[in-house]
Amino acid sequence: MSTNPSWIFRSYPSAMPSVENWVLEDRPVPEAADGELLVKTLWLSVDPYMRGRISPAKNYAAGFKLGDLMRGGGIGEVVASESPDFKPGDIVMSDYSGWQPFSAIPAASAKRVTITDAPVQSALSYLGMPGLTAYFALLKTANPKAGETVLISAASGAVGQIAGQIAGIKGLDPVAVAGSDEKLEWCRELGYRTGVNHRSSADLVRDVAAACPKGVDVFIDNTAGPIHDAAMLNLNAFGRVVVVGTIALADRFDQPDIGLRHLRRTLITRARIEGFLLDDHEAEYASAIADLLSWYKAGLLRTREDILEGIETVPHAFIRMLKGENFGKQLVKL
Ligand SMILES: NC(=O)c1ccc[n+]([C@@H]2O[C@H](COP(=O)([O-])OP(=O)(O)OC[C@H]3O[C@@H](n4cnc5c(N)ncnc54)[C@H](OP(=O)(O)O)[C@@H]3O)[C@@H](O)[C@H]2O)c1
Repeated sequence: MSTNPSWIFRSYPSAMPSVENWVLEDRPVPEAADGELLVKTLWLSVDPYMRGRISPAKNYAAGFKLGDLMRGGGIGEVVASESPDFKPGDIVMSDYSGWQPFSAIPAASAKRVTITDAPVQSALSYLGMPGLTAYFALLKTANPKAGETVLISAASGAVGQIAGQIAGIKGLDPVAVAGSDEKLEWCRELGYRTGVNHRSSADLVRDVAAACPKGVDVFIDNTAGPIHDAAMLNLNAFGRVVVVGTIALADRFDQPDIGLRHLRRTLITRARIEGFLLDDHEAEYASAIADLLSWYKAGLLRTREDILEGIETVPHAFIRMLKGENFGKQLVKL
């Protein structure tokens, strides 16, 4: 009988990950050790950063080893607590949630989810990591001025859909890059002025130029790859490029992003190109979440989720997101 089916990491992908990189093993329900919580998982988040965690390449955080239980963002209900800070019945979020129905997690990794004005899973989406990434990448790192053109890649995704709407709230001119006409239509409904379909475009440089007739002042680069080149070649003087993610490299993670070299372009534009890591902004999460929640309650933030159900779907959800088959924040409901 299946007691706690758990996804175990079994091989490093050399190209796009496939389900065979994991195996679903029947494991006993764990017990909470001292300082731990036993949590019944309600929601799991699959996120692009996990591509880096299943690679042996050097990264900003340690990756999984072969044989490890997969872990990631999740929300669950505390079933047993070996910590004075939590009690059974608490709803908590943790980045150490196992890809399994019952998970033992360090209490120190858990945050109580107290959201009442939005669905609980929003803590994994617009009121959590993706929403905060959009907020800080745009408002802090890019530091845009009203009226500036902001080009955003993966624009319909978890980060992009929020970044575009924040840009609208702040009086900027948001332009989307997304992978289908349907996604671009949704981006327009959110307030993006226009957009470029990077999968059907025959000439991304030309299409970005047409979509951004005054040039690109800010580029929120969620993807790297050819979209990055098209943005750089349309960048205005003193443009800001925020390197948020490199998902276009999901099928060749450990290899360089082959494309043009933009040093001359950077010199001419005096552009600032800055890498972004959300963790660096932790001290300001509370005020950012307050802003995001107030915009949501005022009807200024609309969001879209893409939900698969059941523990057996978790790697499928992860892979479809890497391939761009998700439409909105990819989640798994247990
Ligand atoms: N640095 C940080 O702290 C931080 C934090 C959170 C997220 N991120 C990054 O932000 C980016 C977006 O994350 P998310 O959670 O919001 O994911 P998402 O946008 O919801 O999903 C990923 C999207 O990437 C696009 N994509 C996939 N392959 C692509 C390719 N070859 N070229 C262009 N686009 C491609 C697809 O959209 P299309 O169909 O539109 O192509 C896909 O839907 C990721 O790169 C992620 O690593 C960074």
